[in-house]
Amino acid sequence: MTFSNSTTDGGRRRTGSEHSSKAAAAMTAAVTGAVLMLGGIECLKAQDFIDDQARIVRGYAIAPVGLNLSGKDPVKVGLGSYFVNTIGDCNGCHSSGTPASLFLYPYATGGNPYFNQPTKIDPTVYLNGGAQFYTVGTPTGPLGYAGPVIVSRNLTPNSAGLAEGGRTLAQFMQIMRTGIDLDQIHPTCSPEQLDTINSPGSMTLAELQAAVNDCIPTGVFPGSTFDNEPDGNLLQIMPWSAFASLTDYDLDAIYQYLSAIPCIDNTLPLAPAGAPGELLNNCGSGGPVPAAQPGDKVNSLLKLGASGRRR
Ligand code: HEC
Repeated sequence: MTFSNSTTDGGRRRTGSEHSSKAAAAMTAAVTGAVLMLGGIECLKAQDFIDDQARIVRGYAIAPVGLNLSGKDPVKVGLGSYFVNTIGDCNGCHSSGTPASLFLYPYATGGNPYFNQPTKIDPTVYLNGGAQFYTVGTPTGPLGYAGPVIVSRNLTPNSAGLAEGGRTLAQFMQIMRTGIDLDQIHPTCSPEQLDTINSPGSMTLAELQAAVNDCIPTGVFPGSTFDNEPDGNLLQIMPWSAFASLTDYDLDAIYQYLSAIPCIDNTLPLAPAGAPGELLNNCGSGGPVPAAQPGDKVNSLLKLGASGRRR
């Protein structure tokens, strides 16, 4: 559609008479038809295939940590790395960051691009979670309680090699497609909890937070008509609504990559309110699994790609 329209527009710009305009239109139709008849879709598939190879190779080149490829599809791990470390920017939010006191930047000392330094990701906090965001609830009651600070989660695999501290692929898919918070760590406040928030007595803010189970208060924002209704069953801040449109193949690729990175037991930052174990992870007694180095598999991957694996 777009192709045909833009070509017609081009024809109009180029022609002065009705006759040549008709000729251009006929030519447009012929050209459009020809593309379809020549099997444009087949051509696109071939182009996709080439692009995938480039993504996989790039994915291995930019993975900032060693990868444990045992039992995994190396094509998917490479592609997963490409998504996670480029447009997904998972580590941009899922990292305790350095300097540790800021829990902000996922870069090694001297490697912060925003300080105009050459980028170097800090592997010791890579995807270990713990970045602190802000509250998303409506400030309510005399203490202005707005719910817990939202904290990103630890995405590194557990000792059994299951991504994100032990999630199955099916759970991971469900989270990325629907945004469901399977840990249920910040439910929406019930009417009773809102009553408590509105009449906290002599409670401190911290006491109130514990008393209402770290719930998220909803309602009209003070001083505005904006009705703020975050659903506490859903992950907040996390861009799952965009990731939800990834294909199954691509989500599986991300999952496999997250299974291949080193495990980190994150004891650095504050855990999300009410979930003290949330960032901790069982990495087993033997330390991190021996990992292949980025780049190792690139040549064999090119051969794998040529064998025609497709999504
Ligand atoms: C803009 C910041 C941001 C980005 C980018 C981001 N996340 Fe998140 N993510 C979060 C936050 C914050 C949470 C926790 C939200 C909450 O508690 O409501 C979260 C939660 C999650 C969870 C749920 C964890 C659990 O224990 O159930 C998964 C899985 C996840 N993110 C995966 C990813 C992946 C994979 C990427 C990259 C493709 C990514 N995230 C990119 C901020 C982000």
